Amino acid sequence: MPKMLIVYYSWSGHTAALAQRLQQATGADTYAIEVPKDTFAQDMSTTADIAKAQQQTGQLPQLSQPLPDLTPYDLLLVGGPVWSGAPATPMLSFLAAADTGTARLAPFYTHAGMAGDYEAAFKQAAGSRPVTAGLSLSDAQVGNATAQIQQWLDQL
Ligand SMILES: Cc1cc2nc3c(=O)[nH]c(=O)nc-3n(C[C@H](O)[C@H](O)[C@H](O)COP(=O)(O)O)c2cc1C
Repeated sequence: MPKMLIVYYSWSGHTAALAQRLQQATGADTYAIEVPKDTFAQDMSTTADIAKAQQQTGQLPQLSQPLPDLTPYDLLLVGGPVWSGAPATPMLSFLAAADTGTARLAPFYTHAGMAGDYEAAFKQAAGSRPVTAGLSLSDAQVGNATAQIQQWLDQL
């Protein structure tokens, strides 16, 4: 089994719940991407506007925790929510800042039914890094997707 780290960002808990299920299934280490408390708003539409402005200006949010040492890992499961059809901006901050070496990146993401171009945007942000097929689950599915989660893990 490859040495695995689960890296995730979660604004309202769904991706964190999926990350926890992945952790239980794999025993992998975890790292939560966090941003300063005042980075986003309390409500979804203002938060979406803030994230769009961050993308347009290229001013991605700062991470509030130091990055983990990624050198031991062969495989990073990298998870986050879909925001406006793309990865939430803290995911982009992580991808921009992290030296992932030769590790493969396996994206997992949660959404409310419209995942948009998440995976294409994730690959673009990953640049030349190897990216596997992703695991896409709606927020309503997270608690009830044991077979899908296991199938995805098996093919990694
Ligand atoms: C700013 C923002 C933008 C969102 N944009 C989308 C979207 O484009 N498509 C979608 O299906 N869900 C969208 N959602 C819903 C979330 O992707 C979904 O609830 C997800 O599971 C939340 O994950 P989290 O609880 O880990 O933050 C959005 C939520 C927020 C807060």
